[in-house]
Amino acid sequence: MLGFGNVNRTLVRLLMDRDPELRARGIAWRITGIASRRLGWIADASGLDPALLSGQRTVTTADFPAPSSRSADVREWLQAARADVLLEATSLNVVDGQPAVEHLRAALEHGAHAITANKGPIVHAYGELKQLAAAHGKRLLFESTVMDGIPIFSLFQENLPVIHIQGFRGILNSTTNVILSGMEEGLSFEASLRKAQEIGVAETDARHDIEGWDAAVKVAALVIVLMGEKIQLANVEREGIAKLTGEQVRAARAEGTPYKLVCSARRTSSGVTARVAPERVPQNDPLAWVAGTSSIVYFETDIFPGLCITEDNPGLYATAYGMLADFIRAVGT
Ligand SMILES: NC(=O)c1ccc[n+]([C@@H]2O[C@H](COP(=O)([O-])OP(=O)(O)OC[C@H]3O[C@@H](n4cnc5c(N)ncnc54)[C@H](OP(=O)(O)O)[C@@H]3O)[C@@H](O)[C@H]2O)c1
Repeated sequence: MLGFGNVNRTLVRLLMDRDPELRARGIAWRITGIASRRLGWIADASGLDPALLSGQRTVTTADFPAPSSRSADVREWLQAARADVLLEATSLNVVDGQPAVEHLRAALEHGAHAITANKGPIVHAYGELKQLAAAHGKRLLFESTVMDGIPIFSLFQENLPVIHIQGFRGILNSTTNVILSGMEEGLSFEASLRKAQEIGVAETDARHDIEGWDAAVKVAALVIVLMGEKIQLANVEREGIAKLTGEQVRAARAEGTPYKLVCSARRTSSGVTARVAPERVPQNDPLAWVAGTSSIVYFETDIFPGLCITEDNPGLYATAYGMLADFIRAVGT
């Protein structure tokens, strides 16, 4: 597990909780390494104690005396941990996706499946990492990167083959949706943001949410993977919610056209145009009813004119579940 914050810590709990079902599927697991900036690279091929890793107390380096080993870098660490699967959940870097791109590259070259909740590598290095995974006969999976654990990528890739997506529209960033819902109820911008941070859905750097970066990265990931268009993040038109005042937000809701941070993409004759911006949506639009951490995406396809996926109030278990489902896809028979 690389990155040991909200997501991977919750994943440990979920792995323990679902252990009987995993074993029934013939899947046995051991956590043989954890790493973060603060912890460094800790490995023990015989297995670290999941009860310690899943506890309420944040682990520190002092929790891992010998025989746990310390490695100098990701490649040495993967070797020491004898990793079969890397579960990558480090913070988003919108600029170039690093160092997560290098983490996933190292895992695939080591011969491990690469599973990530981090959108950065998908937007910045999907083509390269996909080829690398194929060359090593391993899986690159990233279901948790968009709408937490809801199956979007696997829905299209596994169940809707050769379908053409003409566009999509949705609400894909929980933090801004929590903030807008909070402001509608009379809370200040800051108090609403704190609420999002307390429930663990805000990005490590919340400016990534507020300025629309997280949403733009998700739009780019969907366009790249599902629409097959190599869009650059800079080409996703982007405006955040920082300029909206509580008065404007409450007035818009009272008038029946609430503000939402709307994500959209559309195929045109010259490629795909993509956008993230606050919009007032009509009351009869399904987007108007998606509040708090909930999210929604409405795909237009050539076979199903409208295919809508909504997710009501996901928590951290939803994101961790996406990684667990990827893990089962990767190692299950
Ligand atoms: N939280 C959600 O609901 C959610 C939903 C979907 C996707 N995601 C994605 O999942 C990822 C993790 O989210 P989170 O909520 O778990 O974040 P988090 O609680 O802030 O944890 C991030 C972890 O990554 C580590 N880290 C950051 N940069 C690193 C680096 N350069 N090298 C090694 N470790 C590094 C941090 O280590 P230190 O603590 O030592 O700095 C921390 O352990 C993010 O990419 C996020 O976008 C999150």
